[in-house]
Amino acid sequence: MKSIVILISGRGSNMEAIVQRCAAEGWPARVAAVISNRAEAGGLQFAAAHGIATAVVPHKAHATREAFDAALAAAIDAHSPDLVVLAGFMRILGEAFVRRYEGRMLNIHPSLLPAFPGLHTHERALQAGCKLAGATVHFVTPQLDHGPIVMQSVVPVQPGDDADALAARVLATEHQIYPRAVRWFVEGALHVEDGVVRQRSGEPQLLAAL
Ligand code: GRF
Repeated sequence: MKSIVILISGRGSNMEAIVQRCAAEGWPARVAAVISNRAEAGGLQFAAAHGIATAVVPHKAHATREAFDAALAAAIDAHSPDLVVLAGFMRILGEAFVRRYEGRMLNIHPSLLPAFPGLHTHERALQAGCKLAGATVHFVTPQLDHGPIVMQSVVPVQPGDDADALAARVLATEHQIYPRAVRWFVEGALHVEDGVVRQRSGEPQLLAAL
Protein backbone atom coordinates (compact mmCIF):
# COMPACT_ATOMS: atom_id res chain seq x y z
CA MET A 1 0.00 0.00 0.00
CA LYS A 2 1.58 3.27 -1.14
CA SER A 3 1.31 6.39 0.99
CA ILE A 4 0.37 9.74 -0.59
CA VAL A 5 0.72 13.20 0.97
CA ILE A 6 -1.15 16.02 -0.77
CA LEU A 7 -0.20 19.70 -0.40
CA ILE A 8 -2.87 22.37 -0.93
CA SER A 9 -3.26 26.10 -0.43
CA GLY A 10 -6.95 26.65 -1.16
CA ARG A 11 -10.18 24.99 -2.10
CA GLY A 12 -8.57 21.63 -2.84
CA SER A 13 -10.87 20.37 -5.58
CA ASN A 14 -8.03 18.41 -7.22
CA MET A 15 -7.21 16.85 -3.84
CA GLU A 16 -10.88 15.87 -3.47
CA ALA A 17 -10.89 14.24 -6.88
CA ILE A 18 -7.81 12.20 -5.98
CA VAL A 19 -9.21 11.12 -2.59
CA GLN A 20 -12.50 10.09 -4.17
CA ARG A 21 -10.98 8.16 -7.08
CA CYS A 22 -8.48 6.43 -4.80
CA ALA A 23 -11.37 5.07 -2.72
CA ALA A 24 -13.74 4.38 -5.63
CA GLU A 25 -11.16 2.58 -7.78
CA GLY A 26 -9.41 0.75 -4.95
CA TRP A 27 -5.90 1.98 -5.72
CA PRO A 28 -3.02 0.23 -3.93
CA ALA A 29 -2.57 3.47 -2.00
CA ARG A 30 -4.01 5.71 0.68
CA VAL A 31 -3.96 9.45 1.13
CA ALA A 32 -2.12 9.63 4.44
CA ALA A 33 -2.24 13.38 4.95
CA VAL A 34 -3.29 16.71 3.48
CA ILE A 35 -0.99 19.59 4.39
CA SER A 36 -1.60 23.29 3.75
CA ASN A 37 0.46 26.44 4.12
CA ARG A 38 -2.78 28.29 4.90
CA ALA A 39 -4.99 27.41 7.87
CA GLU A 40 -8.05 28.73 6.04
CA ALA A 41 -7.64 26.41 3.04
CA GLY A 42 -11.11 25.00 2.41
CA GLY A 43 -9.79 21.60 1.41
CA LEU A 44 -8.61 20.87 4.96
CA GLN A 45 -12.22 20.43 6.09
CA PHE A 46 -12.94 17.92 3.35
CA ALA A 47 -9.84 15.94 4.28
CA ALA A 48 -10.62 15.91 7.99
CA ALA A 49 -14.22 14.86 7.27
CA HIS A 50 -12.82 11.89 5.35
CA GLY A 51 -10.62 10.77 8.22
CA ILE A 52 -7.40 12.00 6.62
CA ALA A 53 -4.73 13.55 8.83
CA THR A 54 -4.31 17.27 8.25
CA ALA A 55 -1.55 19.71 9.13
CA VAL A 56 -0.87 23.39 8.58
CA VAL A 57 2.66 24.70 8.03
CA PRO A 58 2.17 28.46 7.78
CA HIS A 59 4.73 30.06 5.51
CA LYS A 60 4.34 33.36 7.36
CA ALA A 61 5.71 31.75 10.54
CA HIS A 62 9.07 31.17 8.88
CA ALA A 63 11.58 33.92 8.17
CA THR A 64 13.20 32.25 5.18
CA ARG A 65 12.18 29.90 2.40
CA GLU A 66 14.72 27.39 3.70
CA ALA A 67 13.12 27.39 7.16
CA PHE A 68 9.65 26.98 5.67
CA ASP A 69 10.82 24.20 3.37
CA ALA A 70 12.43 22.39 6.31
CA ALA A 71 9.27 22.60 8.40
CA LEU A 72 7.19 21.44 5.46
CA ALA A 73 9.51 18.50 4.79
CA ALA A 74 9.29 17.46 8.45
CA ALA A 75 5.48 17.50 8.30
CA ILE A 76 5.52 15.50 5.07
CA ASP A 77 8.12 12.97 6.21
CA ALA A 78 6.09 12.21 9.35
CA HIS A 79 3.88 10.23 6.94
CA SER A 80 6.70 8.47 5.04
CA PRO A 81 5.11 9.15 1.66
CA ASP A 82 5.90 7.29 -1.53
CA LEU A 83 4.40 10.23 -3.44
CA VAL A 84 3.95 13.94 -2.74
CA VAL A 85 1.16 15.59 -4.74
CA LEU A 86 1.06 19.36 -5.20
CA ALA A 87 -2.59 20.26 -5.76
CA GLY A 88 -3.01 24.02 -5.97
CA PHE A 89 -0.07 24.51 -3.62
CA MET A 90 0.87 28.14 -4.17
CA ARG A 91 4.38 28.37 -2.74
CA ILE A 92 7.61 28.21 -4.69
CA LEU A 93 9.76 25.42 -3.26
CA GLY A 94 13.53 25.61 -2.94
CA GLU A 95 15.88 23.38 -4.86
CA ALA A 96 16.90 21.27 -1.84
CA PHE A 97 13.24 20.55 -1.09
CA VAL A 98 12.54 19.60 -4.68
CA ARG A 99 15.60 17.33 -4.83
CA ARG A 100 14.49 15.58 -1.63
CA TYR A 101 11.31 14.41 -3.40
CA GLU A 102 12.68 14.14 -6.93
CA GLY A 103 10.96 11.41 -8.91
CA ARG A 104 8.16 11.16 -6.36
CA MET A 105 6.54 14.58 -6.48
CA LEU A 106 3.85 15.59 -8.99
CA ASN A 107 2.25 18.96 -9.77
CA ILE A 108 -0.69 20.08 -11.86
CA HIS A 109 -0.47 23.33 -13.76
CA PRO A 110 -3.41 24.90 -15.60
CA SER A 111 -1.75 25.39 -18.97
CA LEU A 112 -0.33 23.35 -21.80
CA LEU A 113 3.27 23.40 -20.58
CA PRO A 114 5.82 24.48 -21.61
CA ALA A 115 3.50 27.38 -22.53
CA PHE A 116 2.58 29.75 -19.72
CA PRO A 117 4.47 28.61 -16.63
CA GLY A 118 3.75 30.75 -13.57
CA LEU A 119 0.62 32.66 -12.63
CA HIS A 120 -2.43 33.97 -14.54
CA THR A 121 -2.27 31.26 -17.18
CA HIS A 122 -5.83 31.69 -18.43
CA GLU A 123 -5.55 35.47 -18.83
CA ARG A 124 -2.29 34.99 -20.70
CA ALA A 125 -3.74 32.31 -22.99
CA LEU A 126 -6.66 34.62 -23.84
CA GLN A 127 -4.35 37.57 -24.45
CA ALA A 128 -2.22 35.45 -26.76
CA GLY A 129 -5.30 34.48 -28.78
CA CYS A 130 -4.80 30.76 -28.11
CA LYS A 131 -7.46 28.51 -29.60
CA LEU A 132 -6.55 25.64 -27.27
CA ALA A 133 -5.92 25.58 -23.55
CA GLY A 134 -5.48 22.81 -21.03
CA ALA A 135 -3.67 21.43 -18.03
CA THR A 136 -0.48 19.49 -17.43
CA VAL A 137 0.50 16.96 -14.76
CA HIS A 138 4.27 16.80 -14.46
CA PHE A 139 7.05 15.57 -12.23
CA VAL A 140 8.44 18.45 -10.20
CA THR A 141 11.96 19.63 -10.95
CA PRO A 142 13.73 22.69 -9.54
CA GLN A 143 12.68 24.88 -12.48
CA LEU A 144 9.16 26.19 -11.79
CA ASP A 145 6.40 24.47 -13.80
CA HIS A 146 8.83 22.35 -15.77
CA GLY A 147 9.65 18.69 -15.47
CA PRO A 148 8.69 15.52 -17.31
CA ILE A 149 5.07 15.61 -18.49
CA VAL A 150 2.88 12.74 -17.27
CA MET A 151 -0.43 13.75 -18.84
CA GLN A 152 -2.11 16.71 -20.50
CA SER A 153 -5.69 17.73 -21.18
CA VAL A 154 -6.76 20.00 -23.96
CA VAL A 155 -9.93 22.09 -24.24
CA PRO A 156 -11.09 24.67 -26.80
CA VAL A 157 -10.98 28.38 -26.09
CA GLN A 158 -14.49 29.58 -26.96
CA PRO A 159 -15.31 32.99 -28.42
CA GLY A 160 -16.38 35.23 -25.56
CA ASP A 161 -14.49 33.28 -22.90
CA ASP A 162 -13.20 35.22 -19.95
CA ALA A 163 -10.53 33.85 -17.64
CA ASP A 164 -13.10 32.39 -15.25
CA ALA A 165 -14.99 30.55 -17.98
CA LEU A 166 -11.77 29.14 -19.40
CA ALA A 167 -10.50 28.20 -15.92
CA ALA A 168 -13.70 26.27 -15.20
CA ARG A 169 -13.45 24.34 -18.48
CA VAL A 170 -9.82 23.46 -17.77
CA LEU A 171 -10.50 22.59 -14.11
CA ALA A 172 -13.11 19.98 -15.09
CA THR A 173 -10.37 18.18 -17.02
CA GLU A 174 -7.85 18.58 -14.17
CA HIS A 175 -10.20 16.49 -12.05
CA GLN A 176 -9.91 13.71 -14.62
CA ILE A 177 -6.22 13.76 -15.46
CA TYR A 178 -4.71 14.28 -12.02
CA PRO A 179 -6.29 11.20 -10.41
CA ARG A 180 -5.30 9.17 -13.46
CA ALA A 181 -1.69 10.30 -13.26
CA VAL A 182 -1.53 9.59 -9.53
CA ARG A 183 -3.01 6.12 -10.09
CA TRP A 184 -0.35 5.40 -12.70
CA PHE A 185 2.33 6.42 -10.22
CA VAL A 186 1.03 4.23 -7.37
CA GLU A 187 0.60 1.32 -9.77
CA GLY A 188 4.25 1.71 -10.77
CA ALA A 189 3.24 2.33 -14.39
CA LEU A 190 5.34 5.46 -14.97
CA HIS A 191 8.95 5.68 -15.99
CA VAL A 192 11.00 8.55 -17.35
CA GLU A 193 13.30 8.09 -20.35
CA ASP A 194 15.49 11.05 -21.33
CA GLY A 195 13.05 13.47 -19.70
CA VAL A 196 9.98 11.93 -21.36
CA VAL A 197 7.41 10.03 -19.29
CA ARG A 198 6.32 6.64 -20.61
CA GLN A 199 3.21 4.99 -19.27
CA ARG A 200 3.26 1.20 -19.29
CA SER A 201 -0.47 0.37 -19.29
CA GLY A 202 -0.95 1.90 -22.73
CA GLU A 203 -3.65 4.29 -21.57
CA PRO A 204 -3.46 7.63 -23.40
CA GLN A 205 -1.49 10.42 -21.77
CA LEU A 206 -3.73 12.97 -23.47
CA LEU A 207 -7.34 13.82 -22.64
CA ALA A 208 -8.87 15.79 -25.52
CA ALA A 209 -12.10 17.44 -24.34
CA LEU A 210 -12.79 19.21 -27.64
C1 GRF B 1 -5.92 24.44 -10.20
O1 GRF B 1 -6.36 25.08 -11.36
C2 GRF B 1 -4.48 24.04 -10.33
O2 GRF B 1 -4.15 23.64 -11.61
C3 GRF B 1 -3.79 25.33 -9.99
O3 GRF B 1 -4.53 25.88 -8.94
C4 GRF B 1 -5.86 25.39 -9.01
C5 GRF B 1 -6.13 24.70 -7.71
O4 GRF B 1 -7.47 24.34 -7.57
N1 GRF B 1 -2.41 25.11 -9.69
P1 GRF B 1 -7.93 23.37 -6.39
O5 GRF B 1 -7.38 23.95 -5.09
O6 GRF B 1 -7.39 22.01 -6.67
O7 GRF B 1 -9.42 23.42 -6.42
